[in-house]
Amino acid sequence: MSDNIQTVTVLSKTTWTPNLFSFTVTRPDSFKFTAGQFVRLGVNPSQLQYYQQPRAAAEQAVDEEVFRAYSIVSSPFDEVLEFFSIVIPDGAFTSQLQHLQVGDELLLNTMPFGFLTLARYQKPHPKDLWLLATGTGLAPFLSMLQDLQTWQDYEHIVLAYSARTVEELAYVEKIEQLQHNFGSLVDNPAKLIFIPIVTRESMTDALSERLPKLLLDQSLQQRAGIALDIDSAHVMVCGNPEMVEDTKETLKSLGMVMNRRGEGNIAVENYW
Ligand SMILES: Cc1cc2nc3c(=O)[nH]c(=O)nc-3n(C[C@H](O)[C@H](O)[C@H](O)COP(=O)(O)OP(=O)(O)OC[C@H]3O[C@@H](n4cnc5c(N)ncnc54)[C@H](O)[C@@H]3O)c2cc1C
Ligand SMILES: NC(=O)c1ccc[n+]([C@@H]2O[C@H](COP(=O)([O-])OP(=O)(O)OC[C@H]3O[C@@H](n4cnc5c(N)ncnc54)[C@H](OP(=O)(O)O)[C@@H]3O)[C@@H](O)[C@H]2O)c1
Repeated sequence: MSDNIQTVTVLSKTTWTPNLFSFTVTRPDSFKFTAGQFVRLGVNPSQLQYYQQPRAAAEQAVDEEVFRAYSIVSSPFDEVLEFFSIVIPDGAFTSQLQHLQVGDELLLNTMPFGFLTLARYQKPHPKDLWLLATGTGLAPFLSMLQDLQTWQDYEHIVLAYSARTVEELAYVEKIEQLQHNFGSLVDNPAKLIFIPIVTRESMTDALSERLPKLLLDQSLQQRAGIALDIDSAHVMVCGNPEMVEDTKETLKSLGMVMNRRGEGNIAVENYW
């Protein structure tokens, strides 16, 4: 096993829908990361409690480790590490991971990766931060929103989070708590503007179109109540690669530029 790989223990599991869940694991003492980064998590199916039980699906499990990239949901200051996961029924990793139970052990490569962090932007920052996510692409933004520095660095923070159904719009209560708790710490409860988007059913107070369309026809900007332009905003985009591509092109058509070597508005991360 590589020097960077440590065993972590599952402390809790929250099931949002049959295809979405979150879990927390122990955090190795020496493990440090920046909000927005990801790690590689490993599962060895034969080490899950599920595998010990005589169930048909478990019997088919292969006794070998599978690793996948996972953004960290929790803040760099938390004692535990939290993750938010999709279940792909025939996926090599999540078809096993979905069975994890409290007390199970996972593997964690303690080398943090990724540049979807606010440190990539040179200071001084523009006024506003726009965080645009689909599905589990919400994860890195939750970590950033639990870092007080993020709240101190921007005048407004817009979080637009798109899911297919209301049920799949996970973490809404947590987002509302962050709005209240961190908003109070910076004396501005209105600093975080949360815009839920539900695309395959109707939900009161949610927008219903895909992100690029909402940006192009200005409905997202109108809903946020602030302008989005090259001088006023940093924009981060995370999740479905087609969404990332379409949103990036839309932002460019609105005058924004990719962030390179600290300069420019747009930073993106594709999940597959
Ligand atoms: C930088 C980075 C960070 C990531 N962070 C997360 C995370 O925090 N949470 C998470 O669930 N996944 C995350 N992923 C995706 C993750 O690495 C795996 O792809 C996912 O766990 C599925 O693994 P699998 O082996 O079951 O299926 P795979 O064989 O890896 O994927 C099969 C197919 O499932 C779909 N798919 C994969 N991941 C997702 C997803 N997250 N949401 C919707 N559809 C998906 C795609 O169509 C993909 O082609 C991240 C990926 C990258 C590159
Ligand atoms: N969600 C489920 O119930 C479910 C169940 C089993 C398997 N899966 C698998 O999981 C993967 C996706 O799951 P998911 O629901 O988390 O992610 P997703 O398909 O990326 O959908 C999440 C959100 O992203 C939006 N979106 C998708 N493509 C976009 C684009 N090009 N531009 C802008 N917005 C876009 C979706 O809108 P739209 O609604 O308009 O697409 C939805 O609001 C797929 O491989 C799917 O087969 C999902």
